[in-house]
Amino acid sequence: MPSATSGFTLYGDVPDAGVPSGLTGVGHSSVDLPTGRIELVHPSDALDQIYAQNFGKDGTEPPYWAQPWPSGIELAETVARADVAGARVLELGCGLALPSLAAAQGGARVLATDHAPGALAFAAHNARRNGIRLEVAQCDWSDPWSAIAGAPWDLVLAADVLYGHDFLDALAGLLPRLVCGTGEIWLADQGRPPARDFLAGCERWATVGTTGTAHPEVSVHRLRRHAAPAGRPTATQRS
Ligand SMILES: C[S@@+](CC[C@H](N)C(=O)[O-])C[C@H]1O[C@@H](n2cnc3c(N)ncnc32)[C@H](O)[C@@H]1O
Repeated sequence: MPSATSGFTLYGDVPDAGVPSGLTGVGHSSVDLPTGRIELVHPSDALDQIYAQNFGKDGTEPPYWAQPWPSGIELAETVARADVAGARVLELGCGLALPSLAAAQGGARVLATDHAPGALAFAAHNARRNGIRLEVAQCDWSDPWSAIAGAPWDLVLAADVLYGHDFLDALAGLLPRLVCGTGEIWLADQGRPPARDFLAGCERWATVGTTGTAHPEVSVHRLRRHAAPAGRPTATQRS
């Protein structure tokens, strides 16, 4: 039975009819996580297309969403080792949404978002194939109403999103609006050059703790809001 999400129609395990233009093949991968195995259907020629589009220098965004990147795999592994049962979780720039699928497999209530319709179509399709309950919604960081509508989140996830100078300001403005109190943001990054300045900027409002992963280049940065400053003593309290 075909199912449609965001304009793409995916048919069973061979969703060729839903593969966005420029991508032609469909591949299968599986990832074994502490929460269980996740079988992924994904475009098989995303890297070819990314190179063909010269990494966006032709003015169009390559299908970065269509490739399972090391940061996404490592963030999924990190999430699968954490206790997220019952947590409300948001993923930004989810691509194939492996961290979201791991969180949902671990008992979280998850909204996976991306601005690319193809990403949402494949994320929703893969959730159904794996019997995992997952909500998906379109969210561009320059117009992030769907992410803000659900805030504050217990946990916000994003993997390999710290690479594009043109959207990092929007992302930097968005993150502090998504969590409060004990809420955390976990950013997995493969040492992309813009990440260092981005994270330094985040330290204005959050503490940033960094841990390595099994992949030598991928780290997970955990952001938590600074505690609200204690109120300055009033004149009455001082006297
Ligand atoms: C390198 S891919 C990473 C995909 C996935 N998180 C992973 O690690 O496999 C970057 C993702 O960010 C998404 N993205 C880029 N710019 C965005 C924006 N302005 N708003 C929302 N998503 C965006 C892309 O569509 C893509 O899915």
